[in-house]
Amino acid sequence: MPIPRRIIIDTDPGQDDAVAILLALGSPELEIVGITAVAGNVPLGLTEKNARKICELAGRPDIKVYPGAVRPLVRRPVTAEHVHGKTGLDGPSLPEPTMPLQEQHAVDFIVETVMNEESGSITLCPLGPLTNIALALNREPRIAPRIREIVLMGGGFFEGGNVTPTAEFNIYVDPHAADVVFHSGIPIVVMPLDVTHKALTTAKRVQAFRALGSKVGEAAAALLDFFERFDEEKYGTDGGPLHDPCVIAYLLRPELFNGRQCNVAVEIASELTMGMTVVDWWGVTDRPKNALVMRDIDADGFFALLTERLGRL
Ligand code: BDR
Ligand code: CA
Repeated sequence: MPIPRRIIIDTDPGQDDAVAILLALGSPELEIVGITAVAGNVPLGLTEKNARKICELAGRPDIKVYPGAVRPLVRRPVTAEHVHGKTGLDGPSLPEPTMPLQEQHAVDFIVETVMNEESGSITLCPLGPLTNIALALNREPRIAPRIREIVLMGGGFFEGGNVTPTAEFNIYVDPHAADVVFHSGIPIVVMPLDVTHKALTTAKRVQAFRALGSKVGEAAAALLDFFERFDEEKYGTDGGPLHDPCVIAYLLRPELFNGRQCNVAVEIASELTMGMTVVDWWGVTDRPKNALVMRDIDADGFFALLTERLGRL
């Protein structure tokens, strides 16, 4: 067994964040060095608690969860209770966590870990607004060349936006943070809406989670039953897009995805298109290629992987 890839998951759970965390916990190829929580789908007090609930659901109270930023760098907080419910994790009834929240701030944890661990060994997996990552980069720019890769869920180009006509939620909530990240020089892989809208939680796929017959399988199904209702109505599809687990799946099976290197710039000036990811997919500018932007996914392969890995928990 090769040495597991070491990751920090930066997250705002969120039902799809929760499934992403479960996928990582069920995968021996990955070692979660820490989970950093950020304000996003719901305020920080809930996202950090939800992250701990999920670790406990998976029988992993040993995972360290760190509290991060309570608000975006510049703009006012925006949340998404209309999608995720009041708790951010509506659906199953999960017990209050008993594992402690770490005292160290998420930004300090990220900086300290990247500076102290071997250079090139840590991968960041942001599943929410990029506030914590930008704060860490602003605080200690020497972390940038030491980070192996950032694989993030955010943005959308061909598919447009999901919170405004042009912006995807994670980037919209903190566009200034996203701007810092896309200018960091760190290798970045982007899982935009163009991919996640092809990864639909159809009734059959959710049933496969439930059929695992385990506590985790049942909880994952209940999370997704709640989560998909909003997008099913909005898009008229069988199932909703399962965004965040695409990040973890890429680390495990990159061949499930297809994309290309291009420049990504983030709109931070116009209120009309605030938070839009302007992707130079066709190479019509000479702006530097700063990200591998994904566009396609083998959705059946993705859900087969997910079901198999949740089945290990
Ligand atoms: C992203 O926004 C959140 O609602 C989801 O958790 C995902 O990270 C999708 O736009
Ligand atoms: Ca998220």
